[in-house]
Amino acid sequence: MNRRTFLQNSATAATLAALPFSIQAADRAGAKKFRTALIGCGWWGNNILREAMASGACEVVALCDVDARQFEATLKHVAAGTGDSPKLFKDYRECLAAMKPDIAIIGTPDHWHALPMIAAVKAGAHVYVEKPIGHTVMEGRAMVNAARATGRVVQVGTHRRISPHNVSGRDFIRSGKAGEIGMVRCFVNYGGGPEKPLPTVAVPKELDWDMWCGPAPLRPFNGGDPRTPTQGAGNRGIHPRGFRNYLDYANGTLGDWGIHWLDQVLWVTGEKYPKRIFSSGGRPIAGPVVATASEQTTDAPDHQVATYAFDKFTVQWEHRRFAANNTDKGENVGCYFYGTKGIFHMGWQKGWTFYPTDARQPAITEEPKLNSPDSQNIKELFADFLAAIRSDGKIKPVCDIGEIHLSTNMALLGMLSLKHGKSIEWDGAKEQIIGDPAANKLLRREYRKGYEYPKG
Ligand SMILES: NC(=O)c1ccc[n+]([C@@H]2O[C@H](COP(=O)([O-])OP(=O)(O)OC[C@H]3O[C@@H](n4cnc5c(N)ncnc54)[C@H](O)[C@@H]3O)[C@@H](O)[C@H]2O)c1
Repeated sequence: MNRRTFLQNSATAATLAALPFSIQAADRAGAKKFRTALIGCGWWGNNILREAMASGACEVVALCDVDARQFEATLKHVAAGTGDSPKLFKDYRECLAAMKPDIAIIGTPDHWHALPMIAAVKAGAHVYVEKPIGHTVMEGRAMVNAARATGRVVQVGTHRRISPHNVSGRDFIRSGKAGEIGMVRCFVNYGGGPEKPLPTVAVPKELDWDMWCGPAPLRPFNGGDPRTPTQGAGNRGIHPRGFRNYLDYANGTLGDWGIHWLDQVLWVTGEKYPKRIFSSGGRPIAGPVVATASEQTTDAPDHQVATYAFDKFTVQWEHRRFAANNTDKGENVGCYFYGTKGIFHMGWQKGWTFYPTDARQPAITEEPKLNSPDSQNIKELFADFLAAIRSDGKIKPVCDIGEIHLSTNMALLGMLSLKHGKSIEWDGAKEQIIGDPAANKLLRREYRKGYEYPKG
């Protein structure tokens, strides 16, 4: 990190510290509210909408979901939150055309981020879109280009960039207190285990399954009912929430969780992209992939290791969906920055801890300041989003899509190397894999008939 970057970052942080209060004051004074649409009314979409409503700056004008069962709970939240009466839509294109929202929140599954986000900015909306920004690298490139061409603010939901303990942890590392960083290990090791195939079931009448699959392959339906909490949370079927481990729609734990921690590495170190990536993994515990018309398992790896070579250090990712890390002193998620003065664990619900190399020195810990439910900092990230919108381009949001595109690429390139079975040399400036035409083809994918892959 050079001095200029440091000063820029300090200025951003200082500005941010003051912003939520001025926003609230403006809202109390009856400033015009942002006409807001939520596209994808599931678990996380509702968490974002809650904070949009709590900001006092948003009028909820539209809810859009291909599963009408999601409207029940979302409408209750809106009734309790703002008392607004949003119009309901199944098709985001109709929603954008009819309502012309100022803000679109996109909480759809990963394979459905690119098209609605691009359509929303073209329709004039500022967008808060979830991570990872795309399912393939070139979707992300097209999303960044659309954001820039339209001049709209696009915030991505990587809320760890604004979580107080992550911000102070970054300051700690950047001030040199951990010494020179030579290696980083990012990890998510939750439990899991062997997997049995789930039967294909009838598509519920409230769900447009063809549209849910959208540009991705149409698979047999094996999901649950989002109104039943146990199915919502622990569901291994594709919908709701289980899509994460079906590679047609997402990129497994690396795409779901890895993006958060690999993003922390780029954000803390100021690096943009690795030069070489290699990944290995498989399903020795989950078992073989089953994908027939009558039953299917997930197909994401149950463990994966990915190595990212940067000029100055090496980053390693690892995840397991078995053998949870309960014995570890720290958490089962996070990243360890290994420095010449000690080991710094950037964590989540346990904050951060620094373990000095000099064993006579005590460890230093900072507790997190997370919001309920689900231990996140969406409130702060949404305030930052509003501040960027109101600044008319003067303030970039803290999770600007240009930066989170790079973090998303870290996760997607790890998965690409695993699928390809080879290490890849990455030209980050050109967004091309060097000397490997077959690998370059995996930077995009064919969309299903009727859908057009976004043009970069
Ligand atoms: N930032 C974070 O910490 C965080 C945490 C959880 C989830 N997420 C992200 O949020 C996204 C949603 O995840 P979730 O767990 O809330 O999933 P979910 O299954 O609970 O919700 C997704 C919703 O999108 C709907 N949908 C699908 N296609 C649609 C379309 N074309 N138009 C409108 N709606 C459509 C589904 O019917 C479903 O209701 C994912 O990308 C995930 O990675 C981010």
